[in-house]
Amino acid sequence: MSFDLVFFGGTGDLTWRKLMPALFQAFRHGKLPAGGRILAVARDARTDDEYRAFIRERFDNVEAAKRPKDEEFAQFAQLLHYRQMDLSQPEHYARLKRWLDEPRSEEGRSSPADTVVLYLATSPHLFTVICEQLGAVGLNHERVRVVLEKPLGHDLQSARQINAVVRSVFKESQAFRIDHYLGKPSVQNLSAMRFGNALFEPLWRRESIANIQITIAESLGVGTRGDFYDRTGALRDMIQNHALQLLTMIAMEPPPTADAYAIRDEKLKVLKSLKPFTRESVQRDVVRGQYRAGSVDGKSVPGYLDEAKVPPGSRCETFVALRTEVQNWRWAGVPFYLRTGKRLGARDAHIVVNFRPVPHPIFAGVTQPNKLVIKLQPEDGLELHLMAAKGDYRAGDTLSPVSLDLDFDKAFPSERVGAYERLLLDAIAGRLNLFVRSDEQEQAWAWVEPILQCWAEDHVGPRPYAAGSWGPPAASALVARDGFMWDEEQ
Ligand code: BG6
Repeated sequence: MSFDLVFFGGTGDLTWRKLMPALFQAFRHGKLPAGGRILAVARDARTDDEYRAFIRERFDNVEAAKRPKDEEFAQFAQLLHYRQMDLSQPEHYARLKRWLDEPRSEEGRSSPADTVVLYLATSPHLFTVICEQLGAVGLNHERVRVVLEKPLGHDLQSARQINAVVRSVFKESQAFRIDHYLGKPSVQNLSAMRFGNALFEPLWRRESIANIQITIAESLGVGTRGDFYDRTGALRDMIQNHALQLLTMIAMEPPPTADAYAIRDEKLKVLKSLKPFTRESVQRDVVRGQYRAGSVDGKSVPGYLDEAKVPPGSRCETFVALRTEVQNWRWAGVPFYLRTGKRLGARDAHIVVNFRPVPHPIFAGVTQPNKLVIKLQPEDGLELHLMAAKGDYRAGDTLSPVSLDLDFDKAFPSERVGAYERLLLDAIAGRLNLFVRSDEQEQAWAWVEPILQCWAEDHVGPRPYAAGSWGPPAASALVARDGFMWDEEQ
């Protein structure tokens, strides 16, 4: 199956930091279908060779094992092409269409591709104009798919506006809205664990589960993206999309089939069941923070307000912790805690399912309740924490905590595929399962909207926390109020 993959924003950060390295891995693993061309388009003038050299240089930032050797890059580079394009100029879209419709043999093919994937890796404010122009030149025919990067909009209204334009040009089955967390291997394994094994389902409910915690912690600060980040903040950047998508995967009912529409129907139901926020519950159940100077991995780092391109006095949140509930029969009353932040103690993303304690203790000492930890990064695995009798156990001794560890990197050593690699390959193959539907996305915006409104009117601003800590103390208090602790405090 031949394909053309076009990156709008071809010289941007996302393209060279994530997309090109992911494509190179797919190429190296022999997973990229033969007969493909990759076209980057951006505003400045470059030749194909200049663009190839630009990408080659940037591969130096990639971790050593994923860096191409010269001869590997030379082969990969044959797929890469570059065209200058002003996204406001209709004739530039017509030129793009000609390039796609009339490939020349020196570009590696003489007939149009079976599939054309148009990846909008630009700022979202350009999405509508790009889609309209693509529609105007007929680049919305049935062989075309459009991939939309997050953030899709800034709030519910802007997301609706973008989706309305996307829907007026493309069918829903042509729209691939990316949330790269859905491409992470552990998220695949979360589905496999829940729906490929009978063991967990009877326990996966309020009767057995005390609370669920979703943490996406980053040790990095905002780096050079201070201006973008300041307009976005952690709620829009991480909670509205990544954290809520993880929540839907944990809480959804078993779908009738593995079909993309069946899965996304169930995820949408979860989003619709989330307890709506009110002004009072935002005050009580949402903690926002902003990092101050501190130390991460033994190095002193500046506070958010001293980062490049951050406006003085900014009240942008770099940390959010919140408590919610999924209001349905399965989950009524079970707290779901979501937490994310920059400059936290470690780069660590995981989900903890805390089970209820044994109903009647017969052993001496404290018996810790079971917990299941789904690890997303830096490692990728599952841990089931149990209580066990040690080798020299005698009646009256206390039990000891042990864990069953499943390390997916060891279990499937040669088969690990990165999130963007998987999602790019899925977009080329037309598999929609791991992409977000517009109604899911709008529902997620609708749910965060009262928080945004409340913060806009609130003059207190985010609570400070030291870089390298786990956020403001109020985040611990949020969980302690229900008699629980965050995982690292246990
Ligand atoms: C992106 C956010 O969506 O996800 C970034 O815009 C964040 O701010 C990144 O750093 C985290 O992704 P990962 O895969 O490194 O955890």
